[in-house]
Amino acid sequence: MDGSTLKGRDFLSLHDFSSEEILGLIQSGLDLKAKQKAGIPHPYLQGKTLGMIFEKSSTRTRLAFEVGMYQLGGHALFLSARDIQLGRGETIADTARVLSRMVDGIMIRTFGHEIVVEMARWADVPVINALTDLLHPTQVVADLMTIWEQKGRFQGLKLAFIGDGNNMAHSLLFGGAKMGIDVTIACPKGYEPNADVLKSAQADAVETGAVLSVSNDPLQAAKDADILYTDVWASMGEEDQAEEKESHFKNYQINESLVAVAKKDVMVLHCLPAKRGKEITEAVLEGPHSFVFDEAENRLHAHKAILAALL
Ligand code: CP
Ligand code: NVA
Repeated sequence: MDGSTLKGRDFLSLHDFSSEEILGLIQSGLDLKAKQKAGIPHPYLQGKTLGMIFEKSSTRTRLAFEVGMYQLGGHALFLSARDIQLGRGETIADTARVLSRMVDGIMIRTFGHEIVVEMARWADVPVINALTDLLHPTQVVADLMTIWEQKGRFQGLKLAFIGDGNNMAHSLLFGGAKMGIDVTIACPKGYEPNADVLKSAQADAVETGAVLSVSNDPLQAAKDADILYTDVWASMGEEDQAEEKESHFKNYQINESLVAVAKKDVMVLHCLPAKRGKEITEAVLEGPHSFVFDEAENRLHAHKAILAALL
């Protein structure tokens, strides 16, 4: 595959990539998926190692990067912040420089976005943002790949995100802006997406004509939507706000009434893990519109594309 333009780059936000580059990653993800399913070896990262730092829990992201490195002929190291010296106060700058002497890429899941920026500043190898409180860009590459598989296009599609103006909402705003998908974030008052992110995504959207908006009306947002998307109401690190958020978010649920006002062939996505009966009903999550497990599978293929391009 030709990932030459991305070699050595960091992957911190979709904002840093052109529409063509993102489309290239999606196409590469589709190609790697076909190869994997056909049993065609694709050892593009033979002898390469990825260091994976996790300061928060993960199922999909860890699996996708770890299995992905293995399938690409390389190796991945799971570095829990509880076990490495970072957890005992060693600085990001020192950790970045030590890892850079031994591995070919660093993946990090952490809290503040400034931590991945600091890591990228000090590392000599590509740094991949595997979720911060602000952004979750690798997830959205897999989401876009899943949308492409079902819809065969991006331009002019309507995506309604129902829930918190969180890291997922932010990365979907950037992803929509770059690919020409109209994105509406429907959230309770006081839980709107970060204003700087919205402004920056709106600037990105000028090129594609995507319309990005924020609403407090889930039904209005879901009307004629091609894609309905949701995420947990309380993100990792917000456990102490979970109860309070539940009272504010109870009308921000993907349920059958919301699906009924969307397009007939609406696809329902959720980055997972899901809380059934909260942000999404069991019936919708398990129903015919749901593509959440294709979406989860595509983390593997999309992340292999990112790894093969960057490392
Ligand atoms: N969607 C997602 O990032 O899942 P994990 O938290 O399990 O990695
Ligand atoms: N917004 C969620 C996404 C989990 C994949 C969180 O940050 O916990």
